[in-house]
Amino acid sequence: MKAAVYDRFGPPEVLKITEIKKPVPKDNEVLIKIHATTVEKEDPGMRKSPGINGFLKPKRKILGLELSGEIENVGANVKLFKTGDQVYGNTGMSMGSYAEYKCMNENAGIFIKPNNLSFEEAVSVTNGGLTALPFLVEKGNIRKGQKVLINGASGSVGTAAVQIAKYYGARVYGVCSTHNLFLVRSIGAEHVIDYTKYDFTTIDEHFDIIFDVAGKSSFTRCKKILKPNGIYLTTVPTPATMIQMLWTSKFGKKRVKFIAAGLRSPMKKAKDLAALKKIIEDQKFKPVIDRKYSLNEIVEAHKYVENEKKRGSVVISIN
Ligand SMILES: NC(=O)c1ccc[n+]([C@@H]2O[C@H](COP(=O)([O-])OP(=O)(O)OC[C@H]3O[C@@H](n4cnc5c(N)ncnc54)[C@H](OP(=O)(O)O)[C@@H]3O)[C@@H](O)[C@H]2O)c1
Repeated sequence: MKAAVYDRFGPPEVLKITEIKKPVPKDNEVLIKIHATTVEKEDPGMRKSPGINGFLKPKRKILGLELSGEIENVGANVKLFKTGDQVYGNTGMSMGSYAEYKCMNENAGIFIKPNNLSFEEAVSVTNGGLTALPFLVEKGNIRKGQKVLINGASGSVGTAAVQIAKYYGARVYGVCSTHNLFLVRSIGAEHVIDYTKYDFTTIDEHFDIIFDVAGKSSFTRCKKILKPNGIYLTTVPTPATMIQMLWTSKFGKKRVKFIAAGLRSPMKKAKDLAALKKIIEDQKFKPVIDRKYSLNEIVEAHKYVENEKKRGSVVISIN
């Protein structure tokens, strides 16, 4: 099978399209014929430098955190899926979605894909959806009528957060740059704030939840525009945030919360994928795809995502 493989850290060109052996599912695994994957903000970082994917050389040689595709074969003990099922999901730290096939445990983070989305659309909602949902629902305890501000509303997590907050009945304010104002309004934000012109922390409004998706603000700056029991959620945990999280869990009413959504258990991810499927099939969550590339164009896709100007998701079509 064809895969984008890298065996050293470096520029986008270290990703080489290579023929490798097609995997065979074990008894508790499904073999997925991958139709689409994504290049997320994290991918260029894992390609470029030592860190989460190894120190001297890449531990896992095939990147790709999300996939959508069709089950081509199942192991002898598989009960949850059958051949022909169309699935979407998250591969976690096993990665490996920049490839034509991947074997996954049937209890890993996969679920039947929403039936009103193509494979490319389905994969585009996984990163944002699987991040925004636990942040807003589990950590933010979002409720109908609340006022929620999303800072970084135009990226893959932000576009999901705006739509999920709206689905739960919140009044949503979105913060993004000038050229994404229309997009953020079009997916349901009641008010949009251009961060290149205004500092949202100076507005005369108070919020139940501030979700700092971009991680460009801070609890200290947002505190004054949080309601008395307001919650500041951030995707980027700095040492200061971690201390504030501990401190505010014991003292005061305004809270700081963080969750490593990508490291949640496969079971929790599958549950969230089921919840997302319902929201999507209720027509309350529209995929936002910025660009599509083929697997052969993976180098170009990495160059584009590295620019940090993507809106929504960047999708790689495979089969
Ligand atoms: N905790 C977790 O488990 C978890 C999971 C997934 C992602 N993340 C993190 O969440 C962050 C967002 O991920 P993503 O996939 O949504 O990234 P993305 O698609 O690249 O989007 C980034 C967003 O940041 C916005 N932005 C840039 N500078 C800004 C500023 N000064 N003020 C406000 N917004 C600004 C961009 O808006 P414009 O283009 O309009 O400027 C864009 O909407 C990343 O840091 C990622 O690593 C964390």
